[in-house]
Amino acid sequence: MKKYLLAMAVISHFTLVGCNSEADRTLTTPNKDVSRTSVSNTLWHDDKAKMDAFITELMAKMTLEEKIGQMTLFSSDWDVTGPSLRGDYQDKIKEGKVGAVFNAFTASYTRKLQKMAVEETRLGIPLLFGYDVIHGHRTIFPISLGESASWDLDAIELSAKVAAAEASAEGIHWTFAPMVDVARDPRWGRISEGSGEDVYLTTVIAQARIKGFQGDDLSKPDTVLATAKHFAAYGQAQAGRDYHTTDMSDRELRETYLPPFKAAVDAGAASFMTSFNELNGVPASANKYLLQDILRTEWGFEGFVVTDYTSINEMVNHGFAENDEKAGELAVNAGVDMDMQGSVYFDYLAKQVEQGLVSMQQVDKAARRVLEMKYRLGLFEDPYRYSNEEREKAEIYKDENLQAAQDVARKSMVLLKNDKQLLPLSKSGLNIAVIGPLADSKEDLIGSWSAAGDRYEKPISLLSGILAKVSEPAKVQYAKGASYEFNNQDDSGFSHAITIAKQADVIVMAMGEKWDMTGEATSRTKLDLPGNQQALMEQLKALGKPMILVLMNGRPMTIEWADQNVDSILEAWYPGTMGGPAIADVLFGDYNPSGKLPVTFPRNVGQVPLYYNMKNTGRPYSKDSAEQKYLSRYIDSSNTPLYPFGHGLSYTTFAYSAISLDKSTLASDGSLTASVEVTNSGKYDGEEVVQLYIRDRVGSVTRPVKQLKGFEKIWLNKGETKTVSFTISAKDLAFYRQDMSYGAEAGEFDLFIGTSSDNLQKSEFTLSANSDL
Ligand code: NOJ
Repeated sequence: MKKYLLAMAVISHFTLVGCNSEADRTLTTPNKDVSRTSVSNTLWHDDKAKMDAFITELMAKMTLEEKIGQMTLFSSDWDVTGPSLRGDYQDKIKEGKVGAVFNAFTASYTRKLQKMAVEETRLGIPLLFGYDVIHGHRTIFPISLGESASWDLDAIELSAKVAAAEASAEGIHWTFAPMVDVARDPRWGRISEGSGEDVYLTTVIAQARIKGFQGDDLSKPDTVLATAKHFAAYGQAQAGRDYHTTDMSDRELRETYLPPFKAAVDAGAASFMTSFNELNGVPASANKYLLQDILRTEWGFEGFVVTDYTSINEMVNHGFAENDEKAGELAVNAGVDMDMQGSVYFDYLAKQVEQGLVSMQQVDKAARRVLEMKYRLGLFEDPYRYSNEEREKAEIYKDENLQAAQDVARKSMVLLKNDKQLLPLSKSGLNIAVIGPLADSKEDLIGSWSAAGDRYEKPISLLSGILAKVSEPAKVQYAKGASYEFNNQDDSGFSHAITIAKQADVIVMAMGEKWDMTGEATSRTKLDLPGNQQALMEQLKALGKPMILVLMNGRPMTIEWADQNVDSILEAWYPGTMGGPAIADVLFGDYNPSGKLPVTFPRNVGQVPLYYNMKNTGRPYSKDSAEQKYLSRYIDSSNTPLYPFGHGLSYTTFAYSAISLDKSTLASDGSLTASVEVTNSGKYDGEEVVQLYIRDRVGSVTRPVKQLKGFEKIWLNKGETKTVSFTISAKDLAFYRQDMSYGAEAGEFDLFIGTSSDNLQKSEFTLSANSDL
């Protein structure tokens, strides 16, 4: 991991433009001679006394309206990510009534807006600039679900670090990422923005991303504030329909959906974003249980909470408030510090404080939390330090960033199938037909939530990637062939595709979803290849040629036909700006694929939700009981997924030894070590993700059939063997017991280690006594 240097330069700059008296002008300048070494809650405390004094002094000069300004976030008109409510945001900045702006970037534009706040308002309090920097800012990395398939925390952290460096050079201080919603329903388009279905994987990835965005020192100008979103349980929208209702037990909430958020607090995330959904009847933006009891009281979160867009106003539609005004009162009293775009605090909060409906103390707390972050960022020393034209020029799309994007992209790809070892391809001597709507596309490569990334010029298509890879006497021919638009069955491109395929030695099909079919508001009821891609694939199959399918998409897809009929399938997700070269690296063996699925691929939509760590039921189905009727099964489909969680092939093979345990009984305060030897038994050097799962056989509440508890990604040269060990203690076995206390229960456990959730060595151990945690 990279260690960051201490911030050096102290630019003492804070001036109080437009203050009434000389006394108002003499604020103590914050001092930055502070050393910070790691991302943790200490981030907030190391110079807290100085910060507190500075902010107390500042707040003493602020009017109620100015404080509410700090609680108000408006969108610029540069980029729009939802309904636009305020065309007059610039006037309001000048009146000191807006503390933060989102969807504004470039050094010059943010500088222009910052100047309005600093030079034209009474107190000159700098603006905070936010933006959705999700998987890259200008240089786009793979979509978050894709990155998560790398199971490579260093790569994921690097991606966030590069994104922060580019974004911060353009004046952005704060990203609305990472999304840490566990998601198990591929119909929900936002599954593409998270880390998949597993709690543990989502948790460790959340921490890596926060570390990448925030670094070790928020005052460094190349770091940005991170936001853990969407709090909470947004990933469980009913029927996979976006913004839909969520209703779940407290146990399920705490076991599955909250741990990544708690991990975000532990990693020092600066802010939290509420979710659009209601949870058990109470919208998240007015949910005191989430925002006060859990976030503040149990977890001790000290950053600020922002709404997701107009989720305050939306409480009227939810039927939770009769009007915006009441919704605002409910939100602020529940602990929402900042209103994104809803204009509700802006419009009503001052009146509500005067009427005693909202306490001054509540407003003070919220304004202070926001001012603290501005202080942490160093904005009171130099409000323009992030709007740096020179750094912007040097940083954006620099070679190093593009190389990092290519490397992370290839690490993210998952080889789903390679039965006849058709891959990797030879770089010369082959006639290759490259076919499909995604084969020469640039715009799709960067996915839907690609911030300020260029969609039309910068991305390098798969076709270009392949052309750059092959050498004489190879021949590459291209046909778009089919359409990936819903309801577009135009097959006029089929004949050209078939003609070039007939001449080819191998067919590479690039198919999947159009970029705007995933992300927010893109729920689907089908998970198949849209348009007439499937029809073209079937016609190509009739030619009897070797076929490779490269998928670009943002969710698990039901591709059972392809699994049965295509020789090799590579899941490339939306791989980002350098997607084409990255895919070509994998296709031609310059990179040996190492990705593993962070989410289950079902066979059909009827199986959804399908995830690896379900419960066993009282009538579990197994192959041995196949003849019996009254079992938990479908009569028209297998229960099993098409590709399970953790699945992903390599060009080489890995052999696992039996598991060895250093003891068979684990003491409640002790630890146990489980080891396996992993050998690269194939023909290529490569990486393997060694996965550890545990099953608690009997519990006071039933436990899942297995749960991921650890993994390690290792490199093995061909023929090499390494021992991989995992240490397990009672905390890895803990859960919310029948009385909702948290701890582990004595008894028998299965322990599995292997290459995928469905391909594991098995061992067992006993926990000798209960353990309360
Ligand atoms: C709505 C999305 O749900 C959220 O993730 C995003 O950060 C905001 N819009 C701002 O664009």
